[in-house]
Amino acid sequence: MKHGYEHYLSQTAKELQPSGIRKFFDLAASMDDVISLGVGEPDFVTPWSIREATILSLEQGFTSYTANAGLLELREEITYYLKNRFGVQYNPSNQITVTIGASQAIDLAFRAILNQGDEVLIVEPAFVSYAPLVAIAGGTPVAVSTSPANGFNVTPEQIEAAITEKTKAILLCSPNNPTGSMLTKNELIEIAAVIKKHDLLVVSDEIYAELSYDEDFCSVAAIDGMYERTILINGFSKGFAMTGWRLGFLAAPTEFVEVMLKIYQYTTMCAPNMLQRGAIEALRNTYPEVESMRNSYRRRRNYVVQTLNQMGLDCHVPGGAFYVFPSIRATGLSSEQFAEELLMKEKVAVVPGHVFGESGEGYIRCSYATSMAQLQEALKRMQRFIESKGVLAEHQSEKVKTH
Ligand SMILES: Cc1ncc(COP(=O)(O)O)c(C=O)c1O
Repeated sequence: MKHGYEHYLSQTAKELQPSGIRKFFDLAASMDDVISLGVGEPDFVTPWSIREATILSLEQGFTSYTANAGLLELREEITYYLKNRFGVQYNPSNQITVTIGASQAIDLAFRAILNQGDEVLIVEPAFVSYAPLVAIAGGTPVAVSTSPANGFNVTPEQIEAAITEKTKAILLCSPNNPTGSMLTKNELIEIAAVIKKHDLLVVSDEIYAELSYDEDFCSVAAIDGMYERTILINGFSKGFAMTGWRLGFLAAPTEFVEVMLKIYQYTTMCAPNMLQRGAIEALRNTYPEVESMRNSYRRRRNYVVQTLNQMGLDCHVPGGAFYVFPSIRATGLSSEQFAEELLMKEKVAVVPGHVFGESGEGYIRCSYATSMAQLQEALKRMQRFIESKGVLAEHQSEKVKTH
């Protein structure tokens, strides 16, 4: 063996950066009494009937592989779900595939559509996996930056300006991680016009669809002329409190699904049989629980946004997901400095905004998927930290001046 391993490794793999979120949480995990507003997962345990259905399926001995695309019964439930909840119609026999989380569905989508050098527009700040997954599939991620001025939503003009002859697709995520912003139906209609004009595809990450607080969620696939150019991605992780189950799904025109399924059958074979049976129960019988979790997040969102604004951290009201993305510019600190100092001084873990792309600099992501008591304590500590920076006083005197 030649010295070192460097030359054995793939160039693409070597160039990938480790997730900025991990680095921070390894540090937080090594400390006592830390309140984490960092995690991107529900604080609820999966509803009992879903767990019970899975236990029963084990008792009944459902331990074999399923069809590559997943149990037909589950694909049928997914089809009803997409039709009843979001008004999009798919065929369960050849347009749905059950995946290992939404994560794998995103990976499959990029692998299925990208050739070397194809560009994918990624609306930033963005979930940390998108750009690396585009790169792994041989494509080139192109960031389209958003700001609170437009509620962190991308405009048709921004998309138009970023398109080149190499642009193949755009990744849309609404409600968004990390900003919580949501695209309204009208905004989607305008964006769709640009997408159609330039003959692009959309990879639509709808994993937070169930966590929409102020208005009904609209799937881009439901917009006129978009169904045929959309790969819809969703799953059970967030809305049904099933992150650890690793179950997601994709829905798309048959031609896309056939190709994604080929990759899937060679890499994964199928999602776990017994967990798919739990997911059938989730879609059939747990809407009251989903609704009650949504209501709980909504209450916490209102409390957190109001408290952050009162302490002088400008925070837009996110329409969905369970994150707030306040500006920390008033403190004069960078996102990384803010997150690090807050962790060291007050033992509150948040994610520095720049890990979600350059336009996230100057912001932090706080997840409110944690108990109200923990949130209250975390915000008390944050307020103390902010006061030590003199931001609150300045903010209040600013307010007096402007009134
Ligand atoms: C926007 C977004 N997409 C996808 C995922 C991954 O979801 P899953 O657990 O279903 O793989 C996450 C998880 O944080 C996310 O925030």
